[in-house]
Amino acid sequence: GRSLDLTGRHVVVSAGGTREAIDPVRFIGNRSSGLQGYALARTAAARGARVTLVAANVALPDPAGVAVVRVESALQLRDAVLEAVADADAVVMAAAVADFRPAARSDSKIKKTSAEPGAVHLVKNPDILAELGERRREGAAPYPAVIAGFAAETDDVLANGRAKLARKGCDLLVVNQVGENLAFGTPDNAAVVLSADAEPVEIPRGPKEALADVVWDLVAARLP
Ligand code: C5P
Repeated sequence: GRSLDLTGRHVVVSAGGTREAIDPVRFIGNRSSGLQGYALARTAAARGARVTLVAANVALPDPAGVAVVRVESALQLRDAVLEAVADADAVVMAAAVADFRPAARSDSKIKKTSAEPGAVHLVKNPDILAELGERRREGAAPYPAVIAGFAAETDDVLANGRAKLARKGCDLLVVNQVGENLAFGTPDNAAVVLSADAEPVEIPRGPKEALADVVWDLVAARLP
C-alpha cells in the first residue's frame, strides 16, 4: 500500500511561479498558485518521505513536517533545487519557471517621466528540469535518481507532451490540459502522465492531492 512507502526517502518538490525583477518594485510573473506543488509535498510527507519544498512566491502556509525553501527568481530556484537534490532520491518540478528574465534589473524604480518607455530586454533562463536530466545522463552530480516534471498544454496534449518528455530527458511528465477552469489556482486538476517506457497514465479530474498520490505511485515504482 501507499501508507509509508516513501519512508527513508528524500524528495524535492518545486512549487509556485518565479518572479523576474524589472526594477525594485516590478516583475514578470505568472499565475501559478503553488497548490499542486504543495499537495505533492503534503502527500509525500504523509507517505513518510523527508520533503524539501522549494517554493517560489506562494501565498500558502508551510506544510507541517516539510522543509520549505522560499525563492523568488528562476536563478534562485535553480540554486535551491541543485542544493536540495544533492542527497535526494527524486525531484518533482511542479513550479512554473519563467523562460526569460530581464537582462538587467534597474537599481531604481523606472519612472513614467522618462522620455521613452524603454523596452524590457529579455534573456533566456536555464531550463532546470532539462539540466537535471542532462546531469544524470552525463553522471555530473548533483542529480536525483528519479526526475519528474509538469507541463501545461492547450492542444495536441499527447504529441506535445511526448516531445517535451524527450527534450527534457526526465522520467515522468505530468501533462495538464489547461483551460476549462482546470489547473491554475483551482483545487482540482486532471492530467496524463507520460513516460518513455510505459503507457500513458490518465488521472481523471479530481483533487490535487489525488493527482499527487498517483504521481508518487509512479515515482516510487522507479526508485532504485
Ligand atoms: O518547457 P515547459 O515550461 O513547458 O516545461 C515545464 C516543466 O519544466 C516544469 O516541470 C517546469 O518546472 C520545468 N521548467 C524548468 N525550468 C525552466 C522552465 C521549465 O525546470 N526554465
